[in-house]
Amino acid sequence: MAGSARDLVSSLLVFLMMIISFSEAREFLVGGKTNAWKTPSSEYESLNLWAQNSRFLIGDSLVWNYDGNKDSVVEVRKRDYITCNTSSPIAEHKDGNTKVKLDRSGPFYFISGEEGHCEKGQKLIVVVMSAKHATRHFGIAPAPSPVDFQGPAVAPTSAAAVLHGGLMVALAGFVLLI
Ligand SMILES: *[C@@H]1O[C@H](CO)[C@@H](O)[C@H](O)[C@H]1NC(C)=O
Repeated sequence: MAGSARDLVSSLLVFLMMIISFSEAREFLVGGKTNAWKTPSSEYESLNLWAQNSRFLIGDSLVWNYDGNKDSVVEVRKRDYITCNTSSPIAEHKDGNTKVKLDRSGPFYFISGEEGHCEKGQKLIVVVMSAKHATRHFGIAPAPSPVDFQGPAVAPTSAAAVLHGGLMVALAGFVLLI
C-alpha cells in the first residue's frame, strides 16, 4: 500500500514538473541582446547560431528589438527565406519592438524587410520542438534562461546538453544544405 502511494506521488510529481515546464512561456530576446536584429558583420554573429543554441517550445515568444524606422521583421515561408523574397509574407512587423508567439512546432522563418539586409545574412530560422520530442529528451532538464544567455554555447555538461548538441549539429547540417 505504501509502495503504491509512493508511486502515485512520484507520478504526480513528474506530471507536475511537465506542466510547469510547459506552461512557463518564455520570451527570447532575438540575438540575446538589444539591437541584435541587423546585418551580421561575420558568420559568428549570425542569428541562426544564436537560435541553434536556444531551445524553443510551443508557447514561447520571440522579441525583436530594433529601430522601427530603419528595419522590419518579415515572417516568410521557407522558399522566400532562401531567396530573400518579401513580396508575399506571412506577417510583417515594423514597430521596433516585435513580439511573435511560437504557437506551433516546426520551423519559423524570418528575414529583414529592409532592402539588401536579408541577402547580407539578416535572417533567422527558429525551430520549435514538438511537445513529444521535448518531453522525451528535455522534459526534466533545466531550460537555458533566455535572459542569461549572452554568448556562444558552453561545452555540453549533461546528457540533455549532449542531445541538444546533436540537434544543433543536425540543424547546422540542415542550414548548410539549404
Ligand atoms: C517573389 O515571390 C513572388 C510571389 O511568391 C513571385 O511572384 C516572385 O516572382 C518572387 N520574386 C523573385 C525575385 O523570386
